[in-house]
Amino acid sequence: MQKAGMSGFLHLLYVSAQLSGWEFLTGNKTMCGIVAYVGHQEACPIVIKGLKRLEYRGYDSAGIALMNGEGLKVFKKKGKVAALESELAGRELHATIGMGHTRWATHGEPNDVNAHPHYSFHRKLAIIHNGIIENYAAIKQALLKKGHTFQSETDTEVLGQFIEDIWENNGGTLEEAVRLALQEVVGAYAIVIMNEAEPTQLIAARKGSPLVIGVGENEYFFASDATPIVEYTNDVIYLNDHEIAVVKNGELTVVTLNNDTTTPYVQKVELELAAIEKGGFDHFMLKEIFEQPRSIADSMRGRVNAADAMVQLGGLRDYMDKLAKSKRIVIVGCGTSWHAGLVAEYIFEDLARIPVEVEYASEFRYRNPIIKEGDIVIAISQSGETADTLAAIELAKSKGATIFGVCNVVGSSIARATHAGAYTHAGPEIGVASTKAFTAQVTVLTLMALAAAKRKGTIADSLFRQLLAEMESIPAKVERVLQAADKIKEIAYIFTYARNFIYLGRGLNFPVALEGALKLKEISYIHAEGYPAAEMKHGPIALIDEDMPVVVIATNDSSYEKVVSNIQEVKARKGRVIAITTEGDTNLPGMVDFTIEIPKVHEILMPLISVIPLQLLAYDIAVMRGRNVDQPRNLAKSVTVE
Ligand code: G6P
Repeated sequence: MQKAGMSGFLHLLYVSAQLSGWEFLTGNKTMCGIVAYVGHQEACPIVIKGLKRLEYRGYDSAGIALMNGEGLKVFKKKGKVAALESELAGRELHATIGMGHTRWATHGEPNDVNAHPHYSFHRKLAIIHNGIIENYAAIKQALLKKGHTFQSETDTEVLGQFIEDIWENNGGTLEEAVRLALQEVVGAYAIVIMNEAEPTQLIAARKGSPLVIGVGENEYFFASDATPIVEYTNDVIYLNDHEIAVVKNGELTVVTLNNDTTTPYVQKVELELAAIEKGGFDHFMLKEIFEQPRSIADSMRGRVNAADAMVQLGGLRDYMDKLAKSKRIVIVGCGTSWHAGLVAEYIFEDLARIPVEVEYASEFRYRNPIIKEGDIVIAISQSGETADTLAAIELAKSKGATIFGVCNVVGSSIARATHAGAYTHAGPEIGVASTKAFTAQVTVLTLMALAAAKRKGTIADSLFRQLLAEMESIPAKVERVLQAADKIKEIAYIFTYARNFIYLGRGLNFPVALEGALKLKEISYIHAEGYPAAEMKHGPIALIDEDMPVVVIATNDSSYEKVVSNIQEVKARKGRVIAITTEGDTNLPGMVDFTIEIPKVHEILMPLISVIPLQLLAYDIAVMRGRNVDQPRNLAKSVTVE
């Protein structure tokens, strides 16, 4: 059946897509950073600087499109933004409109050709794109039949050609062509388009991938997040899914895919420039590790008051009853956020006596999970953009669950997709390996559990007060751990060339062991595994010999004696043990090879302290091995593809 108002070509495409089924892209999955500018300033330096700020999103190739009296020019280069910058050096590139892209590919070669921007077939347009056009193969097939040829393997080039083709054949405006094309697109996207015929026009659209518009004085900025924008303006608009923004002759209009005009909501973004710069540290990751006393304090600010025995989370106030009465909590997240969820599982079950399941979002979304009325789903995400976590939220929502978010990035997709939530307020995290976001997530989740336990009456008043008081002492204790940085560096030096590592912990320190191992492998590329200490004898013990460093979190808690036994099992097989111990432990120094002491704290709160030396150890080893710690190979900060 032909859809109303559909051109012959669109109809052909619609049918072919139906027949072939939705094809899933294998050539070019991107999450990428987008930045664009139109106004009265030189666009090139603004775009390049913006791309550098967004490089954490992807960094295997970069490109820029600029337009002046000489037409629409595209430059692209494999590698980091610096490689593109060298390519541009010495060229006269004056333009007051431009856009750039930094790419992260999971499939298909990162090379100059596949880098964005892409020209359309007749080179009237250039397009940059973050996301996946899932039915790109069907669209490509239809265009090939019409005689089109393609330079790259990307879905993005297909979309650009598709838009141009509709524009040429329908005779309407480019905005209309974009709208019609996007109505046919299956998948996720944030796009920006430049039009050679309109030197003041930028068109952007989003569905499933973030796009922020900065509103300046007679100038506009488009970007994947606010970091490239805040040095120019604090007034931003978060484009919604299914919206198309058009800037032309200094005017911004926003329409939906159904052609309804919407009034964009301009809001102030509170992001300080210093927060997105290295501030004297060698790497963002180190800066972020050292920021933790402050970021943990920020995540508690206004939420805890031990003197008044008060804990509250404003965003969840209306939902506290629901949380306290819930029969079950399901926590979803990916990577480090999933580890924070594992910590929360112990705390919620222990204090609030609510059964908790923690799931990888990517598994949850594909296994027809059982969600019952009264279930609460907590989605944890630093970026608030992780595709699998977003999909898990939508699935849980469709099954009637109440969804809470724990996100760091204000206004992010996950923050907007959930019913309620709490921001972690850790400030921008730029290093790809998550550090301060983890401790802020654990802090906020602990506060949630404490609030739920208090309301349910499952926590003794004395313990409640003790934990609140101890929470307030955490920033100072983290500061004390950071003072051991030099000692940790010496230990790191000894193990710089280890080929494997095992991390062990029990109870709340088990997820910390997982997180320590993840940090090490992410940035040093050393193979590392985290295990519950007692589980070691069911397999990993076979790996232990004098070449195997074993990091054991052996703090003075209820499982201390058991962990000491596990250490003895490792030592009996000549493994080399680095133990994280509680200050004043006189037992372990004689038993293990190295100790790193951390302050005593109630065991419920221990992960906030015990993870810190593991972050530093991973960082130091990676630096000593000459790795790019802020941008480790193959990884990206914000994973907006499944
Ligand atoms: C990527 C990052 C990890 C992060 C994970 C989940 O893999 O490299 O550091 O833990 O995504 O991201 P999210 O933003 O949802 O916490």
